[in-house]
Amino acid sequence: MVDGGEPEGFGNWYDEKQGDTGDAWHRTLIDPGLFARIGTVTAGTRVLDLGCGNGYVARRLARMGAKVVGVDASDALLERARAREQAEPLGVVYHRTDASDLRMLSDRSFDLAVANMALIDFADAAGAIREVGRVLVPSGRFVCSLSHPCFDVDTRSAWQVEMALGSTTVYRKVTGYREPHSDIFPWRLPDGKVVRTVGYHRPLSWYVKELRKAGFVIVDLEEPAPAPDYVGVRVQKEWLEQIPLHLVVEARLEPGTPGPA
Ligand SMILES: C[S@@+](CC[C@H](N)C(=O)[O-])C[C@H]1O[C@@H](n2cnc3c(N)ncnc32)[C@H](O)[C@@H]1O
Repeated sequence: MVDGGEPEGFGNWYDEKQGDTGDAWHRTLIDPGLFARIGTVTAGTRVLDLGCGNGYVARRLARMGAKVVGVDASDALLERARAREQAEPLGVVYHRTDASDLRMLSDRSFDLAVANMALIDFADAAGAIREVGRVLVPSGRFVCSLSHPCFDVDTRSAWQVEMALGSTTVYRKVTGYREPHSDIFPWRLPDGKVVRTVGYHRPLSWYVKELRKAGFVIVDLEEPAPAPDYVGVRVQKEWLEQIPLHLVVEARLEPGTPGPA
């Protein structure tokens, strides 16, 4: 969510940044791990994209044949997502809502839910996880990517690089890990305006416990390493090969999970 509202140009900037395939950073670092855990999506698979942004993941899944619903709290991003749907109809339906309130979606109506770098932006991520547990069918899967809670604690973490006698050692400094907290991230738009988004850190055990409470078991994890064609900040490639800054979780709703009251 943008702190202090969505300034003019925000939706266009984010939409242009992510485009139809995700920006270079997503394409070559996060998405290979995300899609590895999503696996094969067959025609008619009912997919929920939570915090869908401009909808590039939703559209990618729709092109595989999935029936996709995207939800997001940002009017500006949904406007862009709907414009893309209009330009290339793929049957993706979008709703504007807080992810912790999916009342427009029926119980047990999705096979797969995806949240790409989104739970970390939700103030009520526990509520969102509960809602995903409600709308998924038993044995339905929830695949989400996060900033790695252990190594990427917003502004409370940093690289530390030591060079000595021709060798370089990379460390990741982390503080404030245990305490759930929020932080502000400034993004500079092309016109020089600065947009601030809010992100939320929760420790790894928080995610495991909230997923368990909602009836999920974790079945797999990815800690994405840069792809060979990684085009992010060049110097970080070797560091990211050693220490992951992202985590992808694949959870499955336990078949015996009681249905909603
Ligand atoms: C980092 S962006 C990721 C967007 C998209 N999944 C992607 O990969 O491009 C996080 C998204 O979560 C949305 N968001 C933030 N808080 C939300 C909330 N409480 N409910 C629904 N969406 C929210 C933002 O508007 C934004 O689109």
